[in-house]
Amino acid sequence: MQNVLKGRSSLEKNNVINSLPIKDIYYANNDVVLVNNDSLEYLKCLPGNSIDMIFADPPYFGNQSNLVINRTDGHKPTFDTQKATWAFSMDLVKQFEFHHTWLSESKRLLKDDGTIWITGTYHSIGVVNVVLQDLKYKILNDIILVKRNAPPNFTGSCFRAISETMLWAKKSTEGRKKWNYSTMKQINGGVQMNNVWEYWAEKNPFRHPATKQQIILEKVILAASHEGDIVLDPFAGSGTTGYVCKGLNRKCLMIEIEESYCKLISKRLSGEFGAFQPKIKYEKI
Ligand SMILES: C[S@@+](CC[C@H](N)C(=O)[O-])C[C@H]1O[C@@H](n2cnc3c(N)ncnc32)[C@H](O)[C@@H]1O
Repeated sequence: MQNVLKGRSSLEKNNVINSLPIKDIYYANNDVVLVNNDSLEYLKCLPGNSIDMIFADPPYFGNQSNLVINRTDGHKPTFDTQKATWAFSMDLVKQFEFHHTWLSESKRLLKDDGTIWITGTYHSIGVVNVVLQDLKYKILNDIILVKRNAPPNFTGSCFRAISETMLWAKKSTEGRKKWNYSTMKQINGGVQMNNVWEYWAEKNPFRHPATKQQIILEKVILAASHEGDIVLDPFAGSGTTGYVCKGLNRKCLMIEIEESYCKLISKRLSGEFGAFQPKIKYEKI
């Protein structure tokens, strides 16, 4: 509650994301606003053509409820991610409806030159891809995120999974998009950046079962937004998007349905787990 009030007064004083009528604020600082709500409903109350870029890491719907994996390597017999009810598997038609709802609202919210980035595993990204095409987004790339230090496949039942897919799409086939090509080339040592992004996963000093690595968000934000732009993350999780936006001088609106995660995000944004240190060094162009 204290955070809510602190957020509100800070928002009023600094008029953070002043073009947006934001309600139900859980936390806010000068650059980032966090809302504790269901995105499927909440996005409907935001005005059209108001967002410069969207990053979304929606539920993968790949976990099985009550699944316990008995391991033989001395580790505890469950994975933390298996406890996240929001990630439990769901009927395909319901998954389609879920993605259709938030992606059609996202299209309405995006400015004409805005782009959207969506991550997913093989469980989910196929449905997301179909919905994007159904809504007439233009898919620009599928970016393969390769975790160099991914764990082995413990049972040896199939290949070791080391990648996730991130789709990058534009609102429509018309017009230009916001795209910092030269910055990405510079970051990549002067060579055109390709669609395979390898990274080392680093441990975080907090717990959320699906935190994205900071370096991924840095690349995404540097690629397709400018300082002062408004970035939206409708599935905030542990708040990586807002944390990086703040560090890179972007404004960010995050929505997260679970209050416990909102609490974690507000601590993270208050610097409780350390101040932002960029992973990517580059010269501003
Ligand atoms: C894959 S995690 C996002 C992780 C995030 N990218 C990060 O770096 O921490 C998905 C998050 O979406 C939240 N979520 C699920 N359904 C939601 C909904 N309808 N509205 C808002 N948040 C939702 C979950 O509680 C979960 O924290």
